[in-house]
Amino acid sequence: MWALPPALVRAASPTSLELRAGVFRQQVMPKGPRTPVWGFNGSVPGPVLRYRRGDQVRMTVVNDLPQETTVHWHGLRIPNAMDGVPFVTQIPIPRGEKFDYAFQVPDSGTFWYHPHQSSFEQVPRGLYGALIVEEDKPIEVDREVLWVLSDFKLQPDNQHVEDFGSVRDFGGIGRIGNVVTLNGRAVGEGSGLEVRSGERIRLRILNAASARIFSLQFLGHWPVVIAFDGQAVEPHTRPSSQLVLGPGMRADLVLDCMKAPGERFSVIDNWEKTSEIAKIVYRDEKPLRTKPLGAPMELEPNALPEPDLRKANEHYILFQGGVVGEPILGMVDGKPTGIYNLLNKHGLAWTMNYTAAHEHALMHQPFLHLTKGEHVVLKMINDTDFIHPMHLHGHLFRVIAVDGKPQKYREWRDTVLMAPKETIDIAFVADNPGEWMFHCHILEHAAGGMMGTIAVE
Ligand code: C2O
Ligand code: CU
Repeated sequence: MWALPPALVRAASPTSLELRAGVFRQQVMPKGPRTPVWGFNGSVPGPVLRYRRGDQVRMTVVNDLPQETTVHWHGLRIPNAMDGVPFVTQIPIPRGEKFDYAFQVPDSGTFWYHPHQSSFEQVPRGLYGALIVEEDKPIEVDREVLWVLSDFKLQPDNQHVEDFGSVRDFGGIGRIGNVVTLNGRAVGEGSGLEVRSGERIRLRILNAASARIFSLQFLGHWPVVIAFDGQAVEPHTRPSSQLVLGPGMRADLVLDCMKAPGERFSVIDNWEKTSEIAKIVYRDEKPLRTKPLGAPMELEPNALPEPDLRKANEHYILFQGGVVGEPILGMVDGKPTGIYNLLNKHGLAWTMNYTAAHEHALMHQPFLHLTKGEHVVLKMINDTDFIHPMHLHGHLFRVIAVDGKPQKYREWRDTVLMAPKETIDIAFVADNPGEWMFHCHILEHAAGGMMGTIAVE
């Protein structure tokens, strides 16, 4: 049973570090050759960056990749210039050069970092890592565990299938790997979580895959969700203990391990078909306690600006496209274009408000202009036959309604899963000035046109 790799390593000096994006080999599969991966500081996932709320971060990103890159700090409300979006907030870092990121971490929670340049290739090659900001008063647990989930698409010799950027993936369900990974290693025999009976674990889970959705179930256990996307939510268990995480999304769970020493339970993913992600293995050891720890699970909420729905302005975003469903007409570079030409001539498959955007093209025009301080309800209408995890930069939003139905937890998120033909209302205060990405976190969809910017000025 392998130990959890770089997880929970505290940065030597938490406020100053170098992230070196490079090419190396990592033993992903239990057998056979190592896989050539791209990653940060020689490991996939990259180092866990751990801070306290309010810390001043200085991070030098060094680019040792064969192409340009940037680093985006997913979920952090930081100044626009530090957001790591090529051509929108910065010039991409050329090969062999570096860029200094500096910002203060405003919120506690589970976040992550990844490139925003050719992310449909750079992220699934292994460039991603968790960024954890501790609460001022953390909840009481016996220990903390981090699971970074993703997948690789490998050939029998453990090399990548080199089909990054295929139009089929852009317009379809995205590039789904054939090897699911947990903290950078293939799941399977031996991927497990060793626990002691009676202990309480805070489990942070991040879905860093480019397209794969996970629906996790902890057999024999009822984990309590205490945060989504780093933001506190009223502690609750999910119906049939099912936890769905789309690409980019995170959840913090409290897991009370109340089974007997020597027992084992599977954690399964049953999004498409059922497969085991990990095993919870109870050590043969005297229980730590026989009743679950009574300590409260509520996290201190972050000071997020509360949208006032009575004075909010309504805005609409219509999503269309994909290779299944109604053929669409979209605007590319100012010209109406049919889906077949969109795909074949431009490699684009999706539109937002009738426009298909090239990935980070210099001429990106914001599709929405908001006034700084504006209270906003964004009605997202998914007119496609596909599911999309929609992500907004620089802000958190509340999920207030799905298909017009008010939501029980009205949770704060930075990424929300939008089912086929579903309408989701989100609300936020546009308080962070700048030009912010709003895109699908199925990274092939983003590259295929499902991205745009929202200007706050
Ligand atoms: Cu996690 Cu715009 O990205
Ligand atoms: Cu999508």
